[in-house]
Amino acid sequence: MIKNERPLRQAFVPEKILHREGQKQELGNCLKPALDGRKPRNVFLHGPCGTGKTMLVKWTLEKLEEQSPDVKTSFVNCWKESTMHSTLATLLKGLDVYLGSGTSTSKALNYFEEEAEERNVVVALDEVDTLENKKLLYSLSRADTGIVVISNKKFALAGLDSRTKSSLSPEEINLPAYSKDEIFDIIKERTKYAFVSGTAPNPALRLISRLSKGDARIAIEALRRSGMESEQREKEKVTEDIVKQEFKKMKYLRKSEALKQLNDHEKTIYEMINDKWMKGPEMYDKYREKQENAIGERSFRNYLSHLADLGLLETKGKKSTKKYRKGV
Ligand SMILES: Nc1ncnc2c1ncn2[C@@H]1O[C@H](COP(=O)(O)OP(=O)(O)O)[C@@H](O)[C@H]1O
Ligand SMILES: [Mg+2]
Repeated sequence: MIKNERPLRQAFVPEKILHREGQKQELGNCLKPALDGRKPRNVFLHGPCGTGKTMLVKWTLEKLEEQSPDVKTSFVNCWKESTMHSTLATLLKGLDVYLGSGTSTSKALNYFEEEAEERNVVVALDEVDTLENKKLLYSLSRADTGIVVISNKKFALAGLDSRTKSSLSPEEINLPAYSKDEIFDIIKERTKYAFVSGTAPNPALRLISRLSKGDARIAIEALRRSGMESEQREKEKVTEDIVKQEFKKMKYLRKSEALKQLNDHEKTIYEMINDKWMKGPEMYDKYREKQENAIGERSFRNYLSHLADLGLLETKGKKSTKKYRKGV
């Protein structure tokens, strides 16, 4: 049934990008000056999970390198390389500069500046909100290079000091969640490369599109799992029953992975919520009754937003009228 598993993998960058024409143009226009040795405009790309941020940036960097031998690009995921030193070391590696052990961060920065002087460098920092020391953004923005920062948090750069903000001053590009129909087109296109013709029929794909809630990553993961399960059960094609079952498994998996990341306070919060919508202050009072060494209201709000990011909490409304209930 599955003729090629590669297009269903997380890191696969498709040749054809659907439904992102405007954003693709915008990003391309910002970075284009690198092709003839001018300084690109920096970019801040944001949007929810699974909206194609990582894919779009990787695709664009590849195209830039293909178009000019003078352009050199590098990509780092700050969640995997969160210290200033390891972020920088990974960026340098992408530029074919390998640091010896014991190289200081300031020496590494010098190397980076030299590279940026010599070549037309464009770098991307994915999941930039997890970068421990945002000073790196200041240093990078002082070098002769184009910088793309990516985050699923719209306010990821809000806390930067004004010097860094003005030195970086990025163009903002937003990638909104996909519609059901857009997700359908995306997974339909993938099936052409991954599935034997006719084995991933439209009703199953439509169901996946509906259940993925605008997240292409979840859709592709569900497609892969449903295909493998159907194969294992020796079905001729992917059925809607199998899709439903795989979504249940994925939900369970995501929840257990998310729960592992919680601290004690967040566990207390998660245990006291249910399907009823509650306001923040009401939850805070309840939390304080249950938790020894209760934290302040401000940290409490940070914890709520962490729980929401993990999908464990669902939210509605804005700011002071925001309400919460259990997500999964
Ligand atoms: N417009 C699109 N066309 C084709 N594939 C897409 C598109 N948007 C997302 N994808 C695929 O969906 C998955 C998730 O995209 P990704 O870039 O990782 O999202 P994000 O970084 O925003 O969380 C990837 O496998 C990616 O290739
Ligand atoms: Mg990403």
